[in-house]
Amino acid sequence: MNKLEHLAIIMDGNGRWAKKRGWNRTKGHEKGVETVRDITIHCSKIEEIKTLTLYAFSTENWKRPKLEVNFLMKLLERYLKNEEPTYMKYGVKFETIGDLEPFSKGLRKVIDNLKEKTKNNTNLKQYIALNYGSQDEIVRAVNSLVKENIEVTTDTLTNALDLPYSIDLLIRTSGEHRLSNFLLWQVAYSEFFFTDTLWPDFSPNELDTIIDNFKNRERKFGGI
Ligand code: IPE
Ligand code: IPE
Ligand code: MG
Repeated sequence: MNKLEHLAIIMDGNGRWAKKRGWNRTKGHEKGVETVRDITIHCSKIEEIKTLTLYAFSTENWKRPKLEVNFLMKLLERYLKNEEPTYMKYGVKFETIGDLEPFSKGLRKVIDNLKEKTKNNTNLKQYIALNYGSQDEIVRAVNSLVKENIEVTTDTLTNALDLPYSIDLLIRTSGEHRLSNFLLWQVAYSEFFFTDTLWPDFSPNELDTIIDNFKNRERKFGGI
């Protein structure tokens, strides 16, 4: 049976979830945040899952209308401020991947604060991808090696990435079958699972079913 140490999720479908109900897209993002909390708590209780990496905002998501981008920034700030007790109660260590430079000073302070507060938590490491694009991550990593005159190898490049780990299982919700610039390097040998469920409707129960499916797959890593 496969061991699931690192789970990554492309949390997609918030807008469609709201639209289906005749609501503003922002309602979907609000509900989506509740799913983030539920899934994080659930993963913190599953012994073998050590790392949960969540795609929250891509380098391409800045193309969205300013109102939606601003709403997402405020929502993120509110979530990180309010959820500190949850991170502490369930022993979750908060980390980010992606380039935080374009975010406001205020938001960056909230991010740094939660990282500092949760740094000794050991049940689960949660990486939230913010202004994350895999191509941007790889370019930044290669440039940092070039600058330090380090030869580019699979190992040196991996270690220079924001997320220097491989993914065991990648889930994407909402029926889209693409990576959208997420962890291109790290998914080299991941198992993929696509579900039609929209992110706000995704549940710990469905995650358990997907994990069962993953457990019974044959992973070969190029061998026989
Ligand atoms: C995912 O939901 C959340 C973010 C990308 C921020 P979407 O906002 O992409 O929802 P859909 O895909 O439009 O339904
Ligand atoms: C991917 O979803 C990014 C996140 C989930 C944060 P998108 O909704 O932005 O991706 P596309 O545009 O459908 O590929
Ligand atoms: Mg989408």
